[in-house]
Amino acid sequence: MQLHGTPTRTIRFHPNEVSLVQVIDQRQLPHDFRWHNLSNVDDAAYAIKNMVVRGAPLIGATAAMGMYLAALESQDRENFLDCIRAAAQRLGATRPTAVNLQWAIAQQLSVLDQCSTSDEALNRLRSNAERLIEQDVSQCYEIGRHGLSLIQEIYEKTQETVNILTHCNAGWLACVDWGTATSPIYQAHDGGIPVHVWVDETRPRNQGAKLTAWELGQHGVPHTVIPDNTGGHLMQHGSVDIVIVGSDRTTRQGDVANKIGTYLKALAAKDNGVPFYVALPSSTIDWDLGDGIREIPIEQRSDREVKHMSGKIINDSSDSQIAEVLICPEFSPAANYGFDVTPARLVTGLITEKGICEASEAGLRSLFPTETYASV
Ligand code: MRU
Repeated sequence: MQLHGTPTRTIRFHPNEVSLVQVIDQRQLPHDFRWHNLSNVDDAAYAIKNMVVRGAPLIGATAAMGMYLAALESQDRENFLDCIRAAAQRLGATRPTAVNLQWAIAQQLSVLDQCSTSDEALNRLRSNAERLIEQDVSQCYEIGRHGLSLIQEIYEKTQETVNILTHCNAGWLACVDWGTATSPIYQAHDGGIPVHVWVDETRPRNQGAKLTAWELGQHGVPHTVIPDNTGGHLMQHGSVDIVIVGSDRTTRQGDVANKIGTYLKALAAKDNGVPFYVALPSSTIDWDLGDGIREIPIEQRSDREVKHMSGKIINDSSDSQIAEVLICPEFSPAANYGFDVTPARLVTGLITEKGICEASEAGLRSLFPTETYASV
């Protein structure tokens, strides 16, 4: 996407140093834009676990690069294969819900299995990471092309601004480029369809308020940040034409794990007859799982994220600071479930790189007839 007029992706090689990978430090946005260097597998694992990077596709891309960095680090060791396999385990343990992580690691391990020297492993892990990154860009673009037809249809009927509600950040910051849920929005906006996005703030980490609002703003897309509880009210009053969210893991039956609170938006959408779509690349489909509520592992994070909020201190001086504040009694415990599962029956359709389908095994199979998945 364009950032101050420059095409920018969320992950890249350092412009002058091929052994360094750079990612946008998402902990600093929207107040500061900084590149964060990854020079070894520990850096990559840290970046995923501590949410320097986040969002299912970008977690996968960072893990794929992490495997390349592991090969670089262990190139001169006799047991380089064991070192890279240990790196795969380390990366795979960083976050449990987004299946793109396991998927990207499995892709790299299958390349590694075909290598007999450390030089070969290094070159092939690097080019495979680049391939996976390019693939994510083209899949997200295709998701946008298919999802655009939904927005277009609404606009053709109403001839009015299309109001889209989204949750969390399933934008280009969550991927390499374009985003999943945001890709149809960017393509509609670029194509001249008037759109407006209701951006759920997405407590506790506020990925909507901090990241989605920022990236939509960079691209000039009209949007409004709303507290998480507002969507139902807006839907009751006809102010939402369509909901589009992303996914961290979608089962073969079409159940969708996404950021905590997504399920409540799906319920409100059902009650109000608002179409509820989920945009996802095929790397997010877990063909091994059927019942999402029973089977998808849900990440639980530190209570600190619930009890504290961070933001910019507003004062008259130009050196405004980022600060963290406690928002509840220090003695109160807090629970922090990162994701919830929206059952397929509440999902109007899945928008994938291959087209739009019903959220069901038959629907997914109609687009991906031969796809299988084996966990690492
Ligand atoms: O905890 P996060 O910020 O990694 O959660 C991100 C989401 O829930 C996104 O909606 C999801 O990864 C889809 S990304 C295109």
